[in-house]
Amino acid sequence: MIAVNQVLNHVKHWVKEVGQIQKENLGKKNLLIETKSNEYDLVTEVDKLSEEYFIKAIKEEYPDHCILSEESGEYENNGSPYRWIIDPLDGTTNYAQGLPIFSISVALQQNNETILGVVYLPMLDLLFEAVRGQKAFVNGRKIMVGNKENLKECLLATGFPYDQATNTDNNTNYFSHFVPRSRGIRRLGSAAYDLANVASGVFDAYWELNLSIWDVAAGILLVEEAGGKVIRLENKRGISIIAGNDTLSQLIYRDIQSM
Ligand code: IPD
Ligand code: CA
Ligand code: CA
Repeated sequence: MIAVNQVLNHVKHWVKEVGQIQKENLGKKNLLIETKSNEYDLVTEVDKLSEEYFIKAIKEEYPDHCILSEESGEYENNGSPYRWIIDPLDGTTNYAQGLPIFSISVALQQNNETILGVVYLPMLDLLFEAVRGQKAFVNGRKIMVGNKENLKECLLATGFPYDQATNTDNNTNYFSHFVPRSRGIRRLGSAAYDLANVASGVFDAYWELNLSIWDVAAGILLVEEAGGKVIRLENKRGISIIAGNDTLSQLIYRDIQSM
């Protein structure tokens, strides 16, 4: 059995170290930026540097664990029940522009169930953490999802997929639907931070289509441990989710399914 709270201490140390690298390089002139799946999907040298740190640290501390990390993919599965899921820099478009809204997302799964999740905001020094069954916290303070049930009083968040130009199922229809029905909608550009904000009740609810496991693994655990509900839209591509309290998640789910 793994001592999960001990693992958490390692993760907290790692995210702060990587956060420091990201802070120091934010706004750097001549930041190396490349495109990935299409011209909207970016990766910077800092994403890669951050990922290298995590992979080295995990391999040193837990050499028999599997790792799935956004930029370099899956490390050989050696049969270990433990798998790390890492988004070394969530919010790359913001980062490449010098916008200080981005996060680091680290999750640990045991037999495909997330048992630990950390989302760290380097510029705000906000550390969101959850261990399955032990509630969710930000900087040591317990957090809970919001309790509103009327959309008109709710601040929502969403995002748009990188294939927005070529796939018409790009969330603009749902966005238009919820704009007049809610207090407001934010698009921060970091799915992990969006989910952390739902967990702490800053956002009442969030939905997004076509995400990847590294965007959401830690954030989903935060929301669940904060008493919230995450619903998966099974008929959409990628990982498409709604997060909020139980009532709001169901309500948004019903609206989306009916469109
Ligand atoms: C992206 C961010 C963004 C979301 C995208 C993600 P990245 O991750 O989380 O908010 O809308 O779908 O891919 O590329 O910055 O790690
Ligand atoms: Ca991401
Ligand atoms: Ca990323």
